[in-house]
Amino acid sequence: MISEKTYSEKVPLTHRKKFAQFFTPEPIAQIMVNWLLGNDSVSTLLEPAFGVGVFSRLLLNSQKGVQITGFDVDPVIFEIAKENFNDFSNVNLLLEDYLFNDWDNKYDAVVCNPPYFKFHDYQNRRALEEIKKKLKINLSGFTNVYTLFLLKSIYQLNENGRAAYIVPSEFLNSNYGKYVKEYLLTSNTLRHIIIFDFKQNVFDDALTTSAIILLAKDKNDKQICFSIINNIRQLDEISTIINVYPDTIGKNIINKEVLNPNIKWRAYYQKQQSQEYKNLSPFKDMAKVVRGIATGANDYFTFNNKKAKKYSINEDFLLPCITKSKDVDKPFFTSETFERLKKENANTYLFDAGKKVTDENVLHYIDMGLQAGIHQKYLTSKRNPWYLLENRPPAPIWVGVFNRNGIKFVRNEAGISNLTAFHCIYPVNNLFNNIGIDLLFAYLLTDIAKQIFNDNRREYGDGLKKFEPNDLNNALMLDLSILDKQTKKSILNLYAQYRESIINNVENIEFIESINEVLKKVYKK
Ligand SMILES: C[S@@+](CC[C@H](N)C(=O)[O-])C[C@H]1O[C@@H](n2cnc3c(N)ncnc32)[C@H](O)[C@@H]1O
Repeated sequence: MISEKTYSEKVPLTHRKKFAQFFTPEPIAQIMVNWLLGNDSVSTLLEPAFGVGVFSRLLLNSQKGVQITGFDVDPVIFEIAKENFNDFSNVNLLLEDYLFNDWDNKYDAVVCNPPYFKFHDYQNRRALEEIKKKLKINLSGFTNVYTLFLLKSIYQLNENGRAAYIVPSEFLNSNYGKYVKEYLLTSNTLRHIIIFDFKQNVFDDALTTSAIILLAKDKNDKQICFSIINNIRQLDEISTIINVYPDTIGKNIINKEVLNPNIKWRAYYQKQQSQEYKNLSPFKDMAKVVRGIATGANDYFTFNNKKAKKYSINEDFLLPCITKSKDVDKPFFTSETFERLKKENANTYLFDAGKKVTDENVLHYIDMGLQAGIHQKYLTSKRNPWYLLENRPPAPIWVGVFNRNGIKFVRNEAGISNLTAFHCIYPVNNLFNNIGIDLLFAYLLTDIAKQIFNDNRREYGDGLKKFEPNDLNNALMLDLSILDKQTKKSILNLYAQYRESIINNVENIEFIESINEVLKKVYKK
């Protein structure tokens, strides 16, 4: 048999990536197969995304006679899989797209590591419509293809059948996941969700935050078990939970009626940090978060000094603006930093022609845009005139959109605009009277703020953590207005010292840690 390892050595990564070929490690595949075999009368098995066939290989070790159907769309891996299972007359492999075939068959067992693609294409849209029609459910246009596999497989389960899926955990905490979770609940098949929170990646070549979903079409549908495992050794605990099913022994068992498909399911498996604190208030009472300026054509609209010279565009028609997240490396963005970026010829401006244009050079640059078809792009075609920038005043605080190492807030002391790499944070009007922007920012720098925001973040398949503006608007924060004058003063004092350390390039994090301690004393339950 050709193993996944040999296949990965032989076939280039570009090809494997094209088909999302990331293979399930055997110990994990074994756990999933064990779940299927908990049903003592398995005579048919479906593998919707066959690959080299790890699941069938393991299943046939203990159940030789099971009738297996496998799908794959890649002719290269398909040939290898066929060779691997040549001696098994009970293994039927098909070079077909699973999502568009086999709707009429039902199976006692389904096991799958479906393909995960970041982007949505036309084919997905067709598949999405197909599944909506067949399952009579609603689905968001953003639904990722891996969840379509899952939904179809649930539909194809026989009575007493079982399914095991390993998928990115993204759908548990994203908007489109709402309908998927709804179907998991209404189909009465969800039994166990095992979330991998490994420091290392589960899959060799892909950065994924994965979850195993175990399903059964039996009568034991009252409770759902959530487990988090942090290392491969904890797989043994999962084995025990699977072995004693339908008894439930997991640490985190939740009644089905309690599960709400409309919220992020992180709330059921991860301790919510906000519960550790008292006197919380909605973040939106203090500030409003909106996305940065979207130009629709950054190459055209962004300018550096050289480009401005080349096209003789006067500064009057250039809006100072931060265009890339990497240009901001400190929590305080000062006029000095901005001047340095300008000197380094970073893109620090946006073309800002205004409505009535008379300047000849500006008119010429607009003409160039027309010739390049910039006016016909998705966003520009919706504006009138097409080159007019969104009207968004500079925000006093920015927050990073994508974060790998925790949420990043920046005090925009330079008072410049920002593109969509950052969201804008505008304090609500009464904030200035109440707590003041520096106090708010001092709070945002603390670990407490970050932990509480984390309750509301969303995850992407590749481990990136993202906050949409509304994730932050709907999050909680400590109600800073209850602080007495003295405490406010001491926080602002520590904050000023921290700022000083940053400006002098000798960051002293102890000041922020002290603010954290001050807040803990007041707010910790
Ligand atoms: C993530 S790999 C999993 C392979 C194997 N089952 C495992 O777990 O190691 C997904 C497999 O699905 C195949 N695939 C991609 N799109 C598919 C589709 N629409 N229908 C069937 N198979 C597909 C890929 O070629 C790839 O072999």
